[in-house]
Amino acid sequence: MDAKPSRDALVALDRKHVWRPFASTEDHETRDPLVVTHAEGARLTDADGRTYLDATGSWWCTHLGHANPRLIEALRRQTEALPHCALAGIAHRPAAELAEALVAAAPRAEGDATLDRVFFVDNGSTAVEVALKLAFQYWQQNGRPQRQRFLALPGGYHGDTLGAMSIGALDEVGAVFAPLLFATNDAEPIVDPEGWAPVFDGLIAQLEADGDTIAGVVVEPIVQGACGMRMYPPSELARLREACDRVDTFLIADEVFTGLGRTGPMWGCDHAGVAPDLLAVAKGLSGGLLPFGVTLASKRIHDGFRGDTRRAFLHGHTFCGNPLGAAVALEVLRIYREDDVIAAAKPKAERMADAFAAMGELPGTRHARALGMVGAIDLGEGGYHSRIGWEVQEAARERGIWLRPLGNVVYAVPPLNITDPDLDALLDGIHEALTSVLG
Ligand SMILES: Cc1ncc(COP(=O)(O)O)c(C=O)c1O
Repeated sequence: MDAKPSRDALVALDRKHVWRPFASTEDHETRDPLVVTHAEGARLTDADGRTYLDATGSWWCTHLGHANPRLIEALRRQTEALPHCALAGIAHRPAAELAEALVAAAPRAEGDATLDRVFFVDNGSTAVEVALKLAFQYWQQNGRPQRQRFLALPGGYHGDTLGAMSIGALDEVGAVFAPLLFATNDAEPIVDPEGWAPVFDGLIAQLEADGDTIAGVVVEPIVQGACGMRMYPPSELARLREACDRVDTFLIADEVFTGLGRTGPMWGCDHAGVAPDLLAVAKGLSGGLLPFGVTLASKRIHDGFRGDTRRAFLHGHTFCGNPLGAAVALEVLRIYREDDVIAAAKPKAERMADAFAAMGELPGTRHARALGMVGAIDLGEGGYHSRIGWEVQEAARERGIWLRPLGNVVYAVPPLNITDPDLDALLDGIHEALTSVLG
């Protein structure tokens, strides 16, 4: 085996050939990266042996902690049995059993099992992309071909593929791609994050006015993640569900971030007791081990694809339903059941809420908020390109905390099963970092 490179050599190599996601080349070339060699539970270990509590959940996917031993074991077992096999004309146990388990765990309204088919993908963006394509094609071949538009809750983020971007907020980050995207409603970020009723009023009014051209309405249920951890009342989601029913169009829930108990209950939709017609899930589903995702669809939608090949959904990714991802996801769902992860996280969520409320007392902070295992706070006015969040990141790093701000929003999404001492250390560290930057 080649000799292990020094930390400096590794950073030089990284700067030479890696194209860093969501970073300017200048940041990549000048900011000192964390060089991670190991991760376990809520902690990352760097090349110097120092550990950091990971507030980012490695882009929000380590709900059960890094390198969860049960998941590693499930992965090992499946690697020995069948690491990969395309789902094309083939059935395998992990995919079939996972589909059954997901249907059983899916959000439902008053016991009604709306979602009963699982389409496998390989990340959150493609889970959303598939939901859009399924809705679109359904109406094309089921008597409403004029339904070609989507509406979306303003300010949302649904991934970086072109379809997912089309229904997301187009700030400066995505504006360059505008000519490539299809039109939706005006999904600009909303100005007043507290003023949700008018936002939903507008969306519902547009849905009712243009209903016969709308293939579906896309939302992140209850918490809009990437646009700044913005939280809205469940009653608004329930109102939107009712409006979709009145118009008879599809509610598409993107639970890539909110799913698997991140906001308290298993699904964001559960806060409102609603079931969507299409549901996108990824991130925590494969326990932070593998790229994996699914789109769940209602029986009605699936039935709309019966008939000959021309009515089939001709879409698929090489690794969709990958047995490794499916076996790990099955084990994730088993852990949720056996360890009652959702109930066990409740006191931790209360600790998060108290800690963020206390941070909200610091001068220079605004709008401290928490729901489930999501806590967030706004600093200053600068938005996504603000540097203040990065200053807090530096201060937190010095204290052994790994943060990644969303511009002027500092947030924490620790594992749902984080230990109490780690959670206390994480929250105290963020508080101290804020104090040191805000003075
Ligand atoms: C709500 C939501 N949808 C979709 C995505 C895209 O997921 P992925 O990064 O796996 O493509 C994200 C990613 O952050 C997300 O937060």
